[in-house]
Amino acid sequence: MNKIHFFGETPAELDPPVRGDKISGERYYSKEWMKAEWKHVFGKVWHVGGLVSELEEPGDWVSHNLGRDSFIMVLQEDGSIKAFYNACIHRGNRLVWSDLGAGDRITCSYHGWQFGNDGTLLRVQDEKDFPGGSPCGKAKLTEIKCDTWGGFIWFTMDLDAKPLLEWLVPYPELLASYQMEKMTRVLYMTAEIPCNWKIIRDNFNESYHLPTLHPELAPFIDDEYTDTVFEMYPNGHNRMVMKGCHPSQRLDLPDNMQPPLDDVLRMWDLDPKDFEGRATEARTAIQKAMRKLGPERGFHYFDTLTDSQLTDYHHCTFWPNFSLTMGPEGFQVLRSEPHPTDPEKCIFDHWYFMHEVKGRDMVETPLGQLPFEAAERQVVKFGETSLGFVADQDMSIAVGQQQGLHSAGYKGGMLTNQEKRIQRFHEMLNDACGIHGEIE
Ligand code: FES
Ligand SMILES: [Fe+2]
Repeated sequence: MNKIHFFGETPAELDPPVRGDKISGERYYSKEWMKAEWKHVFGKVWHVGGLVSELEEPGDWVSHNLGRDSFIMVLQEDGSIKAFYNACIHRGNRLVWSDLGAGDRITCSYHGWQFGNDGTLLRVQDEKDFPGGSPCGKAKLTEIKCDTWGGFIWFTMDLDAKPLLEWLVPYPELLASYQMEKMTRVLYMTAEIPCNWKIIRDNFNESYHLPTLHPELAPFIDDEYTDTVFEMYPNGHNRMVMKGCHPSQRLDLPDNMQPPLDDVLRMWDLDPKDFEGRATEARTAIQKAMRKLGPERGFHYFDTLTDSQLTDYHHCTFWPNFSLTMGPEGFQVLRSEPHPTDPEKCIFDHWYFMHEVKGRDMVETPLGQLPFEAAERQVVKFGETSLGFVADQDMSIAVGQQQGLHSAGYKGGMLTNQEKRIQRFHEMLNDACGIHGEIE
């Protein structure tokens, strides 16, 4: 399964047919669509609620707001994690408001009901004043399914959902070598973006926009589609693999060395002059040098990575709204979640994880140099604070697309073959929501 199928060799089972459903504009702004997605999609899948590393002692908890709802995940005495709706069972008050907390009880601020770590109601005011006797020790917070993988805490509202590891297939196997659970989140940003959550998904489900929106990547990422791996898995997840340390074959002279590829060669004790006119050979040479020099430079995690993982970008999308871009230095989380009430807004998360390397205090992230440490959450205002150079480019288009999709001039999409993952995403969405045409 870990085999990379370059040069358009994707096996048929990873390239399923699509029907060509119209990708209507209204799905990006209608409340009906928003409601249907919440019920049939977000209510059914596994979501990331936090990091395992955020919970150290029993009673530590992390919360996550998603759409109109909110969830708490609490570390138990036996090391497992339980997840609950973040809503008091008395009269519905939201229980916790911060991202993280600790203690042996969660106390509701309205009438003071107290819940233990396992969600059991432990104390109420006026215990004798209940028609059926005291609810203490009997009533519980409403529990949902919770599990962990990849260093993330996952939850689902669907009590009949497949077990997490089954739902994640094929990623537990494909990504095991990265040892994600040992990595540290050095960038932790969230912003509200004025576009529907699916516009961001569509963008991360194609690489067609790279030459126009991110031309500066061309000297070291091969964005030529015939040299890119596209795989679509039966459960709706999909993967795209692009060669890194390799100039784009779209360039007029792909074998001409351009920055920053020369810097990468120098970093691994290779002389860029040796690759003049042969820049496309740099990738293999860099992989070899990384293998040779990596361990003595503290890059202990190189051992488990494949050659492709040492240089390439493995962009893994989890149905429907979560993706990991696995790179040689670290991986990005790119997630868009629906806004609580407005279909024309979404919540965008951009996180970056890296391995610890002895003696390395500062690290290069999508936002530039940052200290190597677990970052605090930064909720930023879109347009005022950068979300990272490349992410800013993507988001700037997302906002304009949200406007254009309202136009009567947009007739439902006209996609290239290489954008097939977008087509499939929307067909899966149509099937899940049971909407196969326009809402009148
Ligand atoms: S709503 Fe929580 S104690 Fe009343
Ligand atoms: Fe992009």
